[in-house]
Amino acid sequence: MSEHKKLYDEVFGLIEKHDDWMSKTINLIASENVSSPAVRSAIVCDFRDRYAEGWPGERVYAGCKYIDQVELITIDLAKKLYKAEFADVRPISGVVANLAMYTAAMEPLDRMMALSIAHGGHISHARKDLGGTAGQIRGHKVRNWIFDDKEFNIDIDASMKQIKDLQEKGDEIKFLLFGGSVFPFPHPVKEFRDIADEYGMTIGYDSAHVSGLIASGFFQDPLREGADMMTTSTHKTLPGPQHAMVLAKEKWADAIKRASFPGLLSNHHLHNVAGLAVALAEMMEFGVEYSKQIMKNAKALAQALHERGWQVIAEHKGFTQSHVVLVDVTETPMKDGATVEENLEDANIVINRNLLPWDKKRGRDYKTPGGIRLGTSEMTRLGMKESEMDAIAEFMTRVVMKGVDVKKIAKEVGEFRKEYQKVHYAFETDTPAYAHLRFK
Ligand SMILES: Cc1ncc(COP(=O)(O)O)c(C=O)c1O
Repeated sequence: MSEHKKLYDEVFGLIEKHDDWMSKTINLIASENVSSPAVRSAIVCDFRDRYAEGWPGERVYAGCKYIDQVELITIDLAKKLYKAEFADVRPISGVVANLAMYTAAMEPLDRMMALSIAHGGHISHARKDLGGTAGQIRGHKVRNWIFDDKEFNIDIDASMKQIKDLQEKGDEIKFLLFGGSVFPFPHPVKEFRDIADEYGMTIGYDSAHVSGLIASGFFQDPLREGADMMTTSTHKTLPGPQHAMVLAKEKWADAIKRASFPGLLSNHHLHNVAGLAVALAEMMEFGVEYSKQIMKNAKALAQALHERGWQVIAEHKGFTQSHVVLVDVTETPMKDGATVEENLEDANIVINRNLLPWDKKRGRDYKTPGGIRLGTSEMTRLGMKESEMDAIAEFMTRVVMKGVDVKKIAKEVGEFRKEYQKVHYAFETDTPAYAHLRFK
């Protein structure tokens, strides 16, 4: 057998192993989900090999008549689901959607406000010296929101004062960005609308993590609360393919369209647009029930961990109002997020280490942060409810607090997972959640 054929076979072997492993693990990665059999079926269609530059009906490529119809359906569903005046479903990822938003709302070098990473911001919101997209690619000067650690949210009064002081100094802020990768509580969008109007600032909201909850009428409604535009990746609480969207008020439509194409995209992964249409239709049908359970499960997981002695953040606020649970693990026997992450993975429980707002003061960085981040979207999608969250908290406790052998727990987790092999909240639920669709 040739060396190339061996590698070719090895890739398929590894895919099989991954799928098998996923079917036996508890996946609590807050930024992930498992797409439905119908979404997976759509994203392997022939669109994956085509181009459709431009807007449906105004393409600069031939051969798009069916692709256009699918993209128009996707736009229509996105506008309905988010009650948005405008939707651009072309950005191929959340980072690209954020770039389209920055390009539409700001000139290069303009100043903006965003959450720091330690407070839950995403690297695509960050400064140049951190390698962040906003700073490095667009040259934006990023000022961070002042954060209230106890409330685990933006400090409204202090941030308002900061903006006013900056304006008076001549350091004009042009753009206020809300949203992030860890935000268990809604951000104060409406509270900043007046100051945005006073100084002519645009408000953006990165809903990547919470857009499934927003679509279902939970968490918050940024476009009604005063955001001009909202970006989202489409594969977190919204359980679609890896893709993204920008949703906005109509007045931003031309600027966003132009930023996407010809600014940022040539092909826009048309197969994923088809998959997104399917996911949006499923959310219209099943989203409310699904999102409600995600949020119940997050609260239940937080409570179950708290009862077992874990330091879950924001106990006084009921721990979370989203899919995310954040835990300070420095008082556990494992002492840091990286060690907890590694040990849980060996026990087939997949979670993320996470920097906490107070980590910097403790001399910690992202390699050995003090926290872990847990999300309930994927396990909820497999049909788990509050009692399963209690069982998950018990597995985690036995690994991290009691030092039980990880191999033993991994076996038990595999047994526990046997009953949860199908995707729920979808039109087609027969195909196993982690089945590999084969063509050869
Ligand atoms: C808040 C936020 N924005 C943007 C992104 C990037 O999305 P993508 O991975 O689709 O580029 C993420 C990814 O996790 C995120 O958490």
